[in-house]
Amino acid sequence: MSDTLITEKIDYVAEIARLKKEKNAVILAHYYQTADIQDVADYIGDSLGLSQQAAKTEADIIVFAGVRFMAETAKILSPTKKVVLPDINAGCSLEESAPADKFKAFKDQYPDALVISYVNCSAELKTLTDIVCTSTNAVKIVESLPKDQQIIFAPDKNLGAYINRVTGRNMILWDGACMVHETFSGKMIQDLKVKHPAALVIAHPESEQSVLDHADYIGSTTGLLKYTISNPNNEFIVATESGILHQMRKASPGKKFHVAPTSRNGHACKACSDCPHMKLNTMAKLYYCLKDETPEIILPQSIIEAAQKPIERMLEISAQFGL
Ligand code: 13P
Ligand code: SF4
Repeated sequence: MSDTLITEKIDYVAEIARLKKEKNAVILAHYYQTADIQDVADYIGDSLGLSQQAAKTEADIIVFAGVRFMAETAKILSPTKKVVLPDINAGCSLEESAPADKFKAFKDQYPDALVISYVNCSAELKTLTDIVCTSTNAVKIVESLPKDQQIIFAPDKNLGAYINRVTGRNMILWDGACMVHETFSGKMIQDLKVKHPAALVIAHPESEQSVLDHADYIGSTTGLLKYTISNPNNEFIVATESGILHQMRKASPGKKFHVAPTSRNGHACKACSDCPHMKLNTMAKLYYCLKDETPEIILPQSIIEAAQKPIERMLEISAQFGL
């Protein structure tokens, strides 16, 4: 046997296209994936769009190019399909912040409260939830409830505080945050604005208030993309995960986009606008996951049944508002 290493030369783009057809598979990708993954996806979207696609797909296999809570949501909505995720370790700091047992003890202190959970949480936490939401529909979902209804909002304290400000509610907030959005710095955005005075600042509501206070527009990932297309301005400072810039540049090649500056422990941080979980996925992992149909998302039937209700409630309310 030769001890020479033979490295495989695989044309991932061609092989992924071939396997997708052969297996009747669909690739759903979040905007925070790398550009090469977005370019082979059948559908690219934000958390709400991806859930809606997962609920209606006729494919036999869903390859979820995103993070685990998203792939779990797809499995809950389409339990008879095989759902695979390129890297099973692709988690989320918001999901980690809210272990179901600790959340249950917290919720038990407020027996009259309804629980609205941001979709960025575990399947188990969804079973303790009345209505799931995403950043696209969160305000509408909260506003659909009576003004005097006590609400617990979990797990994102920044999104929750933003909704409280917009709706005038006083929801009880779980103390979680997105490790990417909390590194955007209001002060550094202000300094960048001085260098690019014509740029509009756009921000995701997972960011802290000190960042949102500088924003000309606040919205979900899809909302931000649409805004850069419809707004005639030619320059934007974008406070969300850097992956979205691929679609922004594709849709508006003549416009300029700057990733908003981030800082950690008082120091500028260049890579902090890349989500380390989202960026665990690569073209090679995507290819092998489609080829070998693993790692697969498996959830107990009892969790699927209990988590389906609050997610379906979210989809029903979203449809009522044309979202
Ligand atoms: P949306 O997809 O709802 O914009 O949320 C962003 C996000 O952080 C997903 O992990
Ligand atoms: Fe979670 Fe933030 Fe990464 Fe989204 S960007 S998956 S919220 S850590």
